[in-house]
Amino acid sequence: MSSELHGPVAPPTRSDGPSAAPTRRTFIATTTAVGVVVAGGALLAEAPAAAVEAPPGSRVYLTVNGARRKVTVDNRTSLLDLLREHIGLTGTKKGCDAGACGACTVLVDGRRVNACLTLAVRLEGAEVTTVEGLADGDRLHALQQAFIDQDAFQCGYCTPGQIVSGVGCIREGRTGSPEEIREWMSGNICRCGCYPKIVRAIEQAAGRK
Ligand code: FES
Ligand code: FES
Repeated sequence: MSSELHGPVAPPTRSDGPSAAPTRRTFIATTTAVGVVVAGGALLAEAPAAAVEAPPGSRVYLTVNGARRKVTVDNRTSLLDLLREHIGLTGTKKGCDAGACGACTVLVDGRRVNACLTLAVRLEGAEVTTVEGLADGDRLHALQQAFIDQDAFQCGYCTPGQIVSGVGCIREGRTGSPEEIREWMSGNICRCGCYPKIVRAIEQAAGRK
């Protein structure tokens, strides 16, 4: 009998089949694979419905065209959307919604502002005047009449903003010359190019024509 048949038996290795004891490497590989399967299943499973929170809102008291109003608005609401969507005053127009065209011009405490850039929640106690608030009953404001007299519009989309801004321009005393009017009305864009007639209308309402 040879000594080779009775020598010491070598310990089992990885290649000894599935019944072999797990090594550190096989343990890590197995647990990683299980982890991937579990995570994948979690991703595929329907996520639980997240609680939907109502946006924060605030109550604001303000005066619009002489009428006291109490409104509750989402804190992100612009004055323009408050006027158009909540109060129903659609005379104030939305052009760019970014402060670049002047279509949304209204007066807040007598000052011209772009309503699209003004947060409604900041207007507690403010007095807002829109184009709807300029006429006295059936009697048009002098600048509204001047726009008609001077034929100072075509499509009319910019006109409410032009008129409200023009009222502000006259009140500010910025009507000394056509150049001054153009300068102080430069925030109001008219795509139809009615600028010369708009200037003439403001001159007329300011009493210079
Ligand atoms: Fe406000 Fe254009 S809509 S500036
Ligand atoms: Fe059309 Fe001014 S009248 S944009």
